[in-house]
Amino acid sequence: MLEQIRSHLQEISCDVFISTHRTHRRYLTKFTGSAGLVWIGLDSKILVTDFRYTEQAGEQSPDWEIVLLQPTLEETMARLIEEQQVRRIAFESEHITVEQLTKWQEKFEAVEFVPTKTWVAQLRQVKTQEEIDKIAAAAKITVQALTALVPQIKPGVTEIELALELEYTMRRLGAEAVAFDPIVGSGPRGALPHAIPGDRKIQAGDFIVIDMGCVYQGYCSDLTRTFVVGRPDPKQLEIYHIVLEAQLAALNALKPGLSGKEVDSVAREIIKNAGYDQHFGHSLGHGVGLEIHEEPRLSQFNEEPLAPGMVVTVEPGIYLPGWGGVRIEDLVVVTEEGCRILTELTKELVIIE
Ligand code: GLY
Ligand code: MN
Ligand code: MN
Repeated sequence: MLEQIRSHLQEISCDVFISTHRTHRRYLTKFTGSAGLVWIGLDSKILVTDFRYTEQAGEQSPDWEIVLLQPTLEETMARLIEEQQVRRIAFESEHITVEQLTKWQEKFEAVEFVPTKTWVAQLRQVKTQEEIDKIAAAAKITVQALTALVPQIKPGVTEIELALELEYTMRRLGAEAVAFDPIVGSGPRGALPHAIPGDRKIQAGDFIVIDMGCVYQGYCSDLTRTFVVGRPDPKQLEIYHIVLEAQLAALNALKPGLSGKEVDSVAREIIKNAGYDQHFGHSLGHGVGLEIHEEPRLSQFNEEPLAPGMVVTVEPGIYLPGWGGVRIEDLVVVTEEGCRILTELTKELVIIE
């Protein structure tokens, strides 16, 4: 991946690429500390970090030159700029504050700071086998935790209690954190795609949307299932099966070469033909990796082709204000022929008796 960054550097005649973004730092160097600067020159790769982390950085990033941040980031950069005779520095405009940039420009008058976008985000889209294995392990924990929760879903239990149980189970199964606060939306609250669990008690007749994920060795998972409490009524069955049909059709279509827009359209057309397109207001899916939401997007705005090794969610939903909602979400890895589901769990409507 350093070759691609160096070739970008040459294209825009820069001497160095710098990043202070935590996820990019981890991706590029494997260093997990909370502070540091990645410095990639045409023939140097340096990780600048402070006293708290130099030993850890040496262990986690043995191929990188570790430079102690001393006494400030700017003083440390000044030494590197001098040593390497740097004139043009490529920085990540999406991740550097105006204040930071102004400080650098004032301090280093002879240096030009050149904004760049998405160099690392682009690289992160296609996962290595090692990354896929970690995402798959996170997905497995997530599936196990949801499976273990099902017997505990019953009338009288609150959304918060269910969410808490999920967090606890995922941690107990080896997750280092939740990827995001679990979403538990019951009854009419299922119409909020990102419902914050509250003290509403589960009732007979509810649809319950549960969306959850965890982090395993830095990598995230993402899974949604919708359950029904007691016998579903005809409208619940109708909506559930439209979403399921859309989800299965998108999974079936998903393959390298199709764009995010094309895959999104497969699901969107089905929901539109059923008359509910106004109630599917988010995109079909997103990339998952070190971050829970990353590139590529399965949306009407992504015309780039998908490629093997990308990991994305497929998560159509229908949300009817005052009534409730249904979302079904799987995490998949794009393969040479199509895609492989990492969140293997039934999608038949599970009826909580
Ligand atoms: N957790 C929100 C989502 O599924 O993207
Ligand atoms: Mn989700
Ligand atoms: Mn998702």
